[in-house]
Amino acid sequence: MTDWKSLDFFFDESLVDDPYPYFDGLRDECPVLPIPHYGVTAITGYDELSDIYRDNESFSSCNSVVGPFAPFPVEFEGDDISDAIAQYRHHMPMHEHMVTMDPPDHTRERHLLMRLLTPGKLKRNEDFMWRLADAQLDQFIADGKCEFISAYSQPFALLVVADLLGVPEEDHQRFIEGFGLQHSPGAVGKGERGNPNENPLAWADSYFTEYIEARRREPKSDILTELAVGTYPDGSTPEVSAVVRTATFVFAAGQETTARLLAVALKHLAEHPEIQDELRAHRDRIPDFIEEALRMESPVKADFRLARKTTSVGGVEIKAGTPVMMLNGAANRDPRRFECPHEFRIDRPNAQANVAFGRGVHSCPGGPLARAEGRVSLERILDRMRDIRISEEHHGPPGDRTYKYEPTWILRGLANLHLEFTPV
Ligand code: HEM
Repeated sequence: MTDWKSLDFFFDESLVDDPYPYFDGLRDECPVLPIPHYGVTAITGYDELSDIYRDNESFSSCNSVVGPFAPFPVEFEGDDISDAIAQYRHHMPMHEHMVTMDPPDHTRERHLLMRLLTPGKLKRNEDFMWRLADAQLDQFIADGKCEFISAYSQPFALLVVADLLGVPEEDHQRFIEGFGLQHSPGAVGKGERGNPNENPLAWADSYFTEYIEARRREPKSDILTELAVGTYPDGSTPEVSAVVRTATFVFAAGQETTARLLAVALKHLAEHPEIQDELRAHRDRIPDFIEEALRMESPVKADFRLARKTTSVGGVEIKAGTPVMMLNGAANRDPRRFECPHEFRIDRPNAQANVAFGRGVHSCPGGPLARAEGRVSLERILDRMRDIRISEEHHGPPGDRTYKYEPTWILRGLANLHLEFTPV
């Protein structure tokens, strides 16, 4: 019998391609389980994970991105480490981004972002998505094959976020190049700063600083101006750097996650031709299909909290100072919540209850956007491709497929997806 606890989730490559037996093994032992690596407690149960996400009094987000690899310069003592967190959180990587903040600072920063995600703005952004989907597909559809992630999902997800933030279309090609992607057909503009960038977020920071300063000097009637002149809930004006951070973090949060969701959705479609026919005939089922894809292959694999107070979850005591590993993909396959959790069922009645976007005050504000990206992409792909197949040359024959996943403990995502299809 495998001793799952002995495997090192962070560095054991055997867990990359299929982490689900490991998640099940931990959950079978206990949904709230201290594991022998880096002092971490792993959460694999649906209810337990949801409870922790909602309890930002007892659990801090200060380590949400770096997990146990965070240089807190003190040993934690006692059953409430709030003071130590307050004193040293600024030593933590990414401390300036909202995802690592706790209320009330978090509430202020999130307020700036939520101005961009109003129903009206999302609708305008969706109009752009329809155009963009076709422009992307036009580039390779006649070939009858593609590597889907680089040809479609990465540039698509990047430009949707660029549009949401109000980046003018003539600058889109610069963003494609700045983020190290190839030329995007959907991107207008020349892109004279064409070097793939070592640190795309730093690059995007410099661009957004120019935009925001320019709009503060000379307001226009556009989204960048709304971003530039937006205020905190108390009416005060944020520093330019705070606005820029909000903007660039959306690229970090919204791009690779959505690109991997689209890829896994296409993989499933290509493996199951009968679902292609079903979705073509019943377009209203596409959202259910996306929801089940989110549940089955949650793009955020591990997210973290730091226990601020000694707290009992699911009957297990978590001591203050413990890094808590939130395994969304494991919670989404908890058999106490989802019947036959390893089966992909597009008619699953509770697929929408998945926790792929987290819960509580940090729950993903981009959820509606990512869902719309999935829906629009699938609509256009089903219209323009028939008989979508997995490339046997790259992934092997049915029953003996090989898929490679990104070797990271943060994201769950296919490294590549080679498809063949009949262009319509
Ligand atoms: C399938 C795609 C996506 C998945 C699976 C996903 C997942 C998540 C999760 C699990 C969190 C919570 C992190 C935590 O509680 O520590 C989160 C936060 C966040 N996501 Fe997403 N996300 C996706 C797409 C997007 C998109 C398209 C955007 C663009 C608007 C976005 C922007 C953000 C931001 C700004 C946060 C931080 C929110 C906060 O700290 O209050 N995400 N996402």
